[in-house]
Amino acid sequence: MKPTMDLSEALQSAFPFRRPLLPWAGYRLIEQSSIEDVWNAALCELGQSDRPNRRTIYIHIPFCANHCLFCGFYKNRAQENRMEGYVDRLIREMERQAHGLSEGGLVHAVYLGGGTPTALGADELFEVVSAIRRLFPLANDCEITVEGRVIHFTEEKIEAALEGGVNRFSIGVQSFDTLVRNKQGRRSSRKEVLMFLESLLARDRATVVFDLMFGLPLQTRQVWMDDLETAIALKPDGIDIYSLALFPGTPLFKAIKQGSIEPGASRQELGEFYAMGVESLSKAGWLHLSNSHFASGTRERNRYNIMIKEGAETLGFGSGAGGAIGRYSYQRDADLDAWSTSVDANTSTISQLSIADENESTRAMITGQLEQGRLDLTSVMRLRPVQLQLAKKLEEFAGKNLITNPEPRTALTLAGRYWSTNIRGEILQILNME
Ligand SMILES: C[S@@+](CC[C@H](N)C(=O)[O-])C[C@H]1O[C@@H](n2cnc3c(N)ncnc32)[C@H](O)[C@@H]1O
Ligand code: SF4
Repeated sequence: MKPTMDLSEALQSAFPFRRPLLPWAGYRLIEQSSIEDVWNAALCELGQSDRPNRRTIYIHIPFCANHCLFCGFYKNRAQENRMEGYVDRLIREMERQAHGLSEGGLVHAVYLGGGTPTALGADELFEVVSAIRRLFPLANDCEITVEGRVIHFTEEKIEAALEGGVNRFSIGVQSFDTLVRNKQGRRSSRKEVLMFLESLLARDRATVVFDLMFGLPLQTRQVWMDDLETAIALKPDGIDIYSLALFPGTPLFKAIKQGSIEPGASRQELGEFYAMGVESLSKAGWLHLSNSHFASGTRERNRYNIMIKEGAETLGFGSGAGGAIGRYSYQRDADLDAWSTSVDANTSTISQLSIADENESTRAMITGQLEQGRLDLTSVMRLRPVQLQLAKKLEEFAGKNLITNPEPRTALTLAGRYWSTNIRGEILQILNME
């Protein structure tokens, strides 16, 4: 079957807008008053659900030097008085639950994210990573990532993280262009960013991954091309290319609405920027590991991110951390003071608990496949009532140049990868699983 849309048209207009991935779809909230009892019961079901046997750990460090305009993750300023005691409490929270939570499968990926884990002191970074290794059963080749940004990530902190056992750094670069950076509140200049990354890479003691964003204000096509070329020339192990999501409530959303900042790339241009990224990286010989992630060689595996999309059990700790065990998904209190009070009082820090419906494993299977550029609907196509509708949808996707053929087992095209959350949404809608 020949597609009716060419790639560029598909990238621009296969759908009117990109769907966000709603991780809570298919989950039902547990009433506040029952959280503690249901949580204790959930612990007894550890490792008994359809989730994959391999696990991850997520540690949230909710502090940042400042609020970058585009970011919806910001919670607390990295000030000494706010951060004091955080690591002690975090370790206490882990210790309290380590016994119950360490039953079941081995941990294959640990992620210290935020916020900015590198806002912690060197000793604190070392303590957190050491505590994780002491308390949980990690696989010998466990990926242990620390997410960080250039500012305040000192040599001493890099060494402490490595000594603690970190084997992967994910650095938020966003753009190398000083003007684009400054406009978003990223204070280091291009020169400072390059110096930092060169020195980190020269150590050659851990995997290094850069996050790049496209679609930021002032980031023209030329700037984006230069961002890609600069990143590739530095030869890191991995690169992420994220399309700017304009979240309501962020300072950037407000500034654009008020007219004080010109918006970046238009919706149509974003698809083109994505294609520029994929083509530059592919031409340079990089592997396309997941829709927004590329590896320059075998050192980078992107374990954590892929496992999350595949629905792995995740033990989450820290104020604002999320996790998933058995049929449940949970959130720890994102209000730092409330979280601290609960840790000190030895009471539960879980502020939200939800239970998945019976379709979670199918949803996770589809999400995991699409994230890695493929789709195999053979098992769900056996469900007679939706067979015809799904077949029609696959025909439509193939016509729009989103998948390579209308068979139940197929691959995503470049445009399909860009629109993967829309493809997911439409399939789940037919399956009545959203
Ligand atoms: C949770 S953030 C933490 C990163 C780290 N604190 C830093 O500032 O470099 C992880 C990544 O999400 C991406 N990100 C954050 N806000 C985004 C947005 N509004 N749209 C797209 N990507 C975003 C950025 O690339 C960022 O590096
Ligand atoms: S991009 Fe990073 S440093 Fe900036 S506000 Fe978001 S989490 Fe904090």
